[in-house]
Amino acid sequence: MNIPYEFTSSQEVIAAGTQYLLPTYAQQPIVITGGSGSFVYDMEGTSYLDFVAGIAVNALGYGDKELADTLKQVIDGGITHCSNLYWNPYAVEAARLLSRLSGLSQTFFCNSGAEANEAALKLARKFGTLKKGSNAVKIITMEQSFHGRTYGAITATGQPKYHQGFAPMVPGISYGKFNDLEDVASRIDAETCAVMVEPIQGEGGIIPADPAFLQGLRSICDEHNLLLIFDEVQCGMGRTGSPFAFQQYDVIPDVITLAKGLGGGIPVGAMTVGPRAAGILAPGDHAATFGGNHLAAAAASVVLRRLEDPSFLQSVQHSGAVLTRRLEQLKETRTSVSGVRGTGLMQGIQLTVEAAPVISACKERGLLLAGAGRQVIRFVPPLVVSTQEVHQAMDILGECIPS
Ligand SMILES: Cc1ncc(COP(=O)(O)O)c(C=O)c1O
Repeated sequence: MNIPYEFTSSQEVIAAGTQYLLPTYAQQPIVITGGSGSFVYDMEGTSYLDFVAGIAVNALGYGDKELADTLKQVIDGGITHCSNLYWNPYAVEAARLLSRLSGLSQTFFCNSGAEANEAALKLARKFGTLKKGSNAVKIITMEQSFHGRTYGAITATGQPKYHQGFAPMVPGISYGKFNDLEDVASRIDAETCAVMVEPIQGEGGIIPADPAFLQGLRSICDEHNLLLIFDEVQCGMGRTGSPFAFQQYDVIPDVITLAKGLGGGIPVGAMTVGPRAAGILAPGDHAATFGGNHLAAAAASVVLRRLEDPSFLQSVQHSGAVLTRRLEQLKETRTSVSGVRGTGLMQGIQLTVEAAPVISACKERGLLLAGAGRQVIRFVPPLVVSTQEVHQAMDILGECIPS
């Protein structure tokens, strides 16, 4: 096979990367070139059990045959992209599957989580303008949230550290206290058009919303004619054991935003809306050149169809339950573990010590983990992870966590 790079070792890649890539990432010195199931391999053939999964992206793990066959079929057809000036059956199919799985109505496709959230912010302002008047453009998001790195999404992100050096932010966005309904309610006025929230805060430290909080937000949004937007970029797409996290909360949002797991590793984002938010955006209001192109939408359809298979989600629930049990055991036996949070295959442990050295020690033993804040380790493996692999990961973690 003709490999389109000239490097023969990890060292060469890292040296050239340090020279040619802007240093926006604090990268670990691992060069991943292959994968199978829940494992990835570096250039020298060292294997790692991957509990990061591209940060909750590689839902089907590595080397999924159906995904690979479908993508090959699209590529062999000669059209990976052909513009939204024309209809594309893959995008229509993916949108139909999203409606079927979510119960919502219509989808806009884009390329990432940040873009999906930009679409939601714009939709919210047009909704406010149309339904409540030209001043109704204020949006409330949550402290400790994360919504992406573009200007709207980073402003919506309620963590000042992400804003530093990039002022001024987009006007009209304020931050309520997560899980504090009274605080959010106190920020609503006649100019508010939407509330945006992650059902489980991911980057903020794997912090689930209380059901009463999301249900209360639904009532407040109904009362004040606001759009309720759930950012399910990280917690959606089967990660919690149901197709979407909101389905475990007995709350139906007006808008969900998706990306990460949606394409199983192919970049694709989506904003899916229910009836209150449909009919707001008109032709010309919003667009993305690549949004839902043939290749990306075909990938999304493969993942979405997998979510329709009850045994797939049962397996997520089962592996997730084993993960919870093993993490709870660690909490009982190690004073450095002070909390276990999350659900399904989106979980985290709160440490009383820094996460980085633990993550580093696990990497040396062949387990990849990511942090979510300085003292939280997050567990977001491929959704196809087996219970045996969960045990294997937890055994390694047990060797690396201080007492
Ligand atoms: C909840 C949430 N929203 C949005 C984003 C941004 O997604 P992307 O990096 O694809 O723009 C992320 C990324 O971590 C996320 O976790």
